[in-house]
Amino acid sequence: MMKNRTYHIETFGCQMNIYDSAIVESLLQRTGFITAVSREQAGLFLINTCSVRKHAEQRVFALLSQYKKLKDDNPEMRIGLIGCIAQIQGAELLKMFPHLDFIAGPDDYRRIPEIVCNFESPKTALISCLSSEDYDDVKPYQSGPCAGVAVMRGCDNFCSYCVVPYARGRERSRPLVSLIDEFHRLSDSGVKEITLLGQNVNSYRDNDNDFAALLYAAAKVDGIERIRFMTSHPKDLKENIILAMAANRKIAPHLHLPLQSGSDKILHKMNRGYTAEKYLNLITMARKIIPDISITTDIIVGFPGESDADFQQTMDIVNSVRFDDTFTYRYSVRPGTKAAAFIDDVPEQLKIERLEEIISAVRRIGRENLEKLIGKTFTVLIENESRKDSDWWMGRTEHNRIAVIPKNSCFIGDFTNFTAGEISGFTIRAEIKEDLHAPAALHEA
Ligand code: SAH
Ligand code: SF4
Ligand code: F3S
Repeated sequence: MMKNRTYHIETFGCQMNIYDSAIVESLLQRTGFITAVSREQAGLFLINTCSVRKHAEQRVFALLSQYKKLKDDNPEMRIGLIGCIAQIQGAELLKMFPHLDFIAGPDDYRRIPEIVCNFESPKTALISCLSSEDYDDVKPYQSGPCAGVAVMRGCDNFCSYCVVPYARGRERSRPLVSLIDEFHRLSDSGVKEITLLGQNVNSYRDNDNDFAALLYAAAKVDGIERIRFMTSHPKDLKENIILAMAANRKIAPHLHLPLQSGSDKILHKMNRGYTAEKYLNLITMARKIIPDISITTDIIVGFPGESDADFQQTMDIVNSVRFDDTFTYRYSVRPGTKAAAFIDDVPEQLKIERLEEIISAVRRIGRENLEKLIGKTFTVLIENESRKDSDWWMGRTEHNRIAVIPKNSCFIGDFTNFTAGEISGFTIRAEIKEDLHAPAALHEA
């Protein structure tokens, strides 16, 4: 029986993992656990992990070795490794790290309170086959004006490089009615902005309700003033989704649409289900309907078989689409995926050179896009104090750009209009005006 019923969770990986950590917190709190004052004093220390690239795994393993000391100093402490690495690597982890007490995969979180409360046989591996769990009844722990809501779990796309379908199992959407309940509950607790989360939100489906129907329903919830979603998949992004965005001013005009590569040969080997031309047509369609839509993307360089010409095709799309932000990755072989059987033939040095070339282009373009915004007016939702200057607030604009505005009469959770004054790094600084901080008119759905 655990005497010290306090927990500390460290989270790595994507927004789904952040959401899942909040689920675990909620499950622990139901059983009488409370947040620990520090990691060192926690009775239960959990590490929620990511397996998407080798580097992400290595980071967790290096930290885990260091955490042995925590347990040496506090032998009562129980340490659990949860999330995607747990699911992929399984019970082996308990042998690799003797100070680990248990592991639990993404669908096994309901059993965590039970096993930590009855630690008769330490060293437990909770790994189920992933299929049906959606934690639909669990209300995740929430603070602040912005909340994520997982509208689906898992992924059925099996992009050849990607571990997520193995770490998270089959795709399942949560029922629309319970999502709407969750949005109302969040609104009642002061949340102003929700982000609909899933590995491929565009394929959301609950009977006749598709993702556009979910967007319309979310926009009707009073008090929720801004709706974001990620990630979109080019094979499932349909015009009705962009039309829903255009019809509802609450739905933020931002699309995260991973390209991965600009070469049809590579896209095919990645099993992405679209061509470069189809991708470009989607961008044209989106910009025709919402001319100022912000578009961000993910790109992998150095996928097996990527020639200079293939890479050049990716660069051509980077230069023609002019993304507002781009997350760039070096291809990392993931054991068990289809691409692990391909020869990883792009030399590491060349991957690094391609990454550097693409990063310098996307930074330049991102910056040029921001410079064009100077003098224009945006609406920011204030999230926090600016890290650099305690006289300024930090928030995000409707296009998901980071902005800082002077602290005047507004507070965290307020929407405020401001005029872009200058760009510092990748942050928009508000122009300083006397009468600036009248509250923004909130839009009707
Ligand atoms: N479901 C989302 C996000 C998946 S993970 C999507 O489909 O886009 C986030 C990003 O990590 C991916 O978009 C991809 O660019 C990158 N990624 C995934 N597996 C990778 C690998 N093996 N090597 C390098 N980057 C990878
Ligand atoms: Fe991975 Fe592809 Fe699924 Fe995204 S859509 S999580 S990249 S398999
Ligand atoms: Fe990583 Fe798992 Fe998310 S592998 S990217 S934490 S779904």
